[in-house]
Amino acid sequence: MIVLGLETSCDETAVALVNQDEILSNKIYSQEVHRKFGGVVPEIASREHTERILMMTAEILEENMMTEDIEGIAVTYGPGLLCSLLIGLNFAKGLSYSLGVPFVGVNHLEAHIYSSFINNEEYCAPFLSMLVSGGHTSIIKVNDFRNYKVLGSTLDDACGESFDKVSKLIGLGYPGGPPIERFAKNGNENAFNFPVPDPKGLNFSYSGLKTSVLYTYRSLSQEERVYRLADLAASFQKAAIESLILKLKRAVKSTGIKKVTISGGVSANKLLRKKLQELDIEWLAPDMEFTVDNGAMVGYLGYKLLEEGIRSNYDLKANPRLFL
Ligand code: KG4
Ligand code: ZN
Repeated sequence: MIVLGLETSCDETAVALVNQDEILSNKIYSQEVHRKFGGVVPEIASREHTERILMMTAEILEENMMTEDIEGIAVTYGPGLLCSLLIGLNFAKGLSYSLGVPFVGVNHLEAHIYSSFINNEEYCAPFLSMLVSGGHTSIIKVNDFRNYKVLGSTLDDACGESFDKVSKLIGLGYPGGPPIERFAKNGNENAFNFPVPDPKGLNFSYSGLKTSVLYTYRSLSQEERVYRLADLAASFQKAAIESLILKLKRAVKSTGIKKVTISGGVSANKLLRKKLQELDIEWLAPDMEFTVDNGAMVGYLGYKLLEEGIRSNYDLKANPRLFL
């Protein structure tokens, strides 16, 4: 069975073709237009999706010469920006109807969770899943396929969101993760002593760290803001990643589960991966192309759902606040 995976929940227009465990093609268009605004502008995002999705789907089908071979369509129906979700979902419904093939709505968060298994051997449950993206920061216990217990989540900003906000503050632009990581390489991570966020238990909090960077930045002279940029990036990154590691260690200790998956945009971070290497756990993170929002993860989970006979009806609504 060949499944088309569609993802338009935020500012990535993404299309993929999946054949069981194999990703035949994965196209991601990260909408550059938002950069100048320092964050995603929902109305512009949905217009960009509208302009791209048909073209990208046509390209991927043409390159793989397989329109008539598509047997199912998987599409993100939440969570995300309503007007962005609607573009992918309505496109999927139209295509499903016209090709006469089933479609299934996929929860974006679940798609991230299972993205770690693309090109990797899948864990048997139970395992822990740390989902770190621009919209979410959670530690989830996966009891069984699609059976979850959320052990902790962010109380305010998501981890990726804090990278984005700090990056905007210090002039490195949006999205913030990649430039902060790049600048941090040349900086001293101990130059500034930012607090490692540690709210009670397994919850996360990133707004205090962001504010701490803001106050420090304000206290610097114009020259310092330039020549200490790499130090700022490195010190912030250290504290942000340290908090993830601290919570993960706590979750492993309290559950006794040592099998962990890490996913979402922040899982691309090399310092995070290096720190994970130092822990006494078994962990999996997606290949880089499957860390940020992508259609392959939607197609990958959608394939499993369709295979189990799960289908969505044409009255499926987009759900911006969908959770697990
Ligand atoms: O999973 P994703 O594409 O979108 C959501 O579902 O939110 O994640 C995007 C987030 C952004 O906040 C971005 O700054 C962050 O992931 N990110 C990173 C890195 N690459 C992307 N954060 C830290 N280090 C990175 N290398
Ligand atoms: Zn995402």
